[in-house]
Amino acid sequence: MTRWAIVARRAATWSGVSDPQSLARHNGSVADHREALRRIAAREPLRAWGTDVVDLPWGDPEFSERMLREHLDQSHELASRRLDTIERQTDRLLEWLGIGPGSSLLDVTCGPGLVARAFAHRGISVTGVDIAPAAIRHAIEITAGLPCTFIESDVREMPLPVAGFDAAIYLYGQGGVARPEDQREILTRVRRALRHGAPLVLELRDAASVDRGPDTRWWAGTDDLFGSGAHLVLTERDWDPDARATVERDIMLGVETGALSIFGVTERAFEPAEIAAILAEAGFPQVEFHCGWDGLAFDDSSDWLVAIGR
Ligand SMILES: C[S@@+](CC[C@H](N)C(=O)[O-])C[C@H]1O[C@@H](n2cnc3c(N)ncnc32)[C@H](O)[C@@H]1O
Repeated sequence: MTRWAIVARRAATWSGVSDPQSLARHNGSVADHREALRRIAAREPLRAWGTDVVDLPWGDPEFSERMLREHLDQSHELASRRLDTIERQTDRLLEWLGIGPGSSLLDVTCGPGLVARAFAHRGISVTGVDIAPAAIRHAIEITAGLPCTFIESDVREMPLPVAGFDAAIYLYGQGGVARPEDQREILTRVRRALRHGAPLVLELRDAASVDRGPDTRWWAGTDDLFGSGAHLVLTERDWDPDARATVERDIMLGVETGALSIFGVTERAFEPAEIAAILAEAGFPQVEFHCGWDGLAFDDSSDWLVAIGR
């Protein structure tokens, strides 16, 4: 099962589809349902960054509200880490980065500001950038009175001062989702925004932990990450050997409406040598690696590789 399908399925209540009255309320016509099934049957094969499988619609206001609930849910670590994990990761990052009170930090794809707040409590000034409106709203709310600034922007276009930061973090695998050309653009922008020799922490999924086998499943849910109302979710995943990436697609079919929404994501599996080469190309010639956060214990910590480029 894919990561985001797990998030959606955890939230599914199931009630809508087993309720006969709900099933009797047909808002969509038979033709709508037939057209949806036709489009599902004619879907493209899973290919890295192909149609519908580039990334989740993070910037969509409604999706970002639903995702915010997952970021803040302390029963899992699939969208953001739990607060106690973030506290321990922050202490470890401060050790690795050699920054302290008075330093400035850039948080690339900062989400709802949970990591930014932890750094700010330790005296660091943080600028966070994220495309999700609900996440940025929450980040601003929880850091009131702390030295934090948040920018709602696509990180491929983020407006940043030149040489304005003492360090940068790009956590929780988002850097492995970007298309190679976008990743180059983002890392180049980060490099420009950092002072000479300042470190960037890039956390990517360890190549060995990236799923490679094909997988196909379906389930019925109601009011979950993928949308409201009763729906079927058809989820599939495959490995694209040319791109060395795993590709996931979750097709959501509205039970009553026949409406079709498709969510997809492509995630690259990087070997350390490749990460070092990408960082060197972006202007970080020295790279050190910390596998599994050097033994820090949290959900799936061994699946992650932290690279620090300088
Ligand atoms: C898995 S979450 C991690 C959030 C945060 N770094 C954390 O650890 O809690 C990925 C984040 O990347 C953001 N994101 C995805 N694509 C983006 C883009 N192109 N520009 C800015 N933010 C983006 C999402 O909105 C989401 O908040």
